[in-house]
Amino acid sequence: MPGRLTDKVAIVTGASSGIGRAISLHYASEGAKLVCADLQPAPLDSPNEPPTHELIASTGGTAIFHPTDVSDATQVSQLVATAAAHYGRLDIMVNNAGIGVAAAAPIWDLALADWERMQAVNLSGVFHGIKFASAQMLRQPPHASGDRGWIINAASILGLAGQSGVAAYCAAKGGVVNLTRAAALDCAPQRIHVNAFAPGYTGTAMTANFFGDEGTRGQLEGMHPFRGLGEPEDLARVCVFLASEDARWVTGATIPVDGGFMA
Ligand code: NAI
Repeated sequence: MPGRLTDKVAIVTGASSGIGRAISLHYASEGAKLVCADLQPAPLDSPNEPPTHELIASTGGTAIFHPTDVSDATQVSQLVATAAAHYGRLDIMVNNAGIGVAAAAPIWDLALADWERMQAVNLSGVFHGIKFASAQMLRQPPHASGDRGWIINAASILGLAGQSGVAAYCAAKGGVVNLTRAAALDCAPQRIHVNAFAPGYTGTAMTANFFGDEGTRGQLEGMHPFRGLGEPEDLARVCVFLASEDARWVTGATIPVDGGFMA
């Protein structure tokens, strides 16, 4: 039986670890051909595990790795060009790469360099992906469905509400939410979907530090009405939907995937 993404070519940024790795594996199992983009091929939390593209290839899927720093516009432009050269087109762009906050600090103690790096990766990185992917989608014939492409951005519950000590992260993710809306309006006449997902606290390398502390973990579990924490696969399943024809009438949306955190 064909998968839900058969014949689609997808780039996933931050594909080596956590949510991006789960999205890549789900996309491959649904028939997509992948370009896995990241700073390094190895997963952050388990460097001895095979890189995502090798894991996909070992299970009969199609994937290559392309080293990319999403904060660098030239590198993202080259990433998109690589996908188009290797597979002949680009249908899906998942702007998932992101960094967390190393140490929480009130805004008066927030270092300028930390603010700037956060915006460069978590907000400008998403902008670069939308800009170069949409330009490629306009250069190629539409997908057989009639749509020209599917762009999916990693936001956060902290882009929908504030939290003390992490203002730079909240600002970048809030930017992603409204960038998604505005880009969706630019792209709608061309039938390019632009949507975002907003994870609640999810078990990955990004959260490993505070999930390791039983007290903090219990507190975070209690903040999610479903009582627990998200898993990368929870986001991956929503990203399959957002890249499929099932999302025919969905654009400009940010979907919370958070066990009810934002309810
Ligand atoms: P993670 O830390 O497990 O994985 C992030 C991946 O992005 C890593 O492989 C890393 O090497 C890569 N990366 C970092 N900077 C990069 C750059 N400049 N260029 C290219 N790749 C880069 O993180 P996780 O948890 O999988 O997060 C994925 C996305 O989901 C991020 O945008 C994050 O902000 C967002 N998110 C995660 C939440 C969580 O609780 N884990 C909650 C809300 C949002």
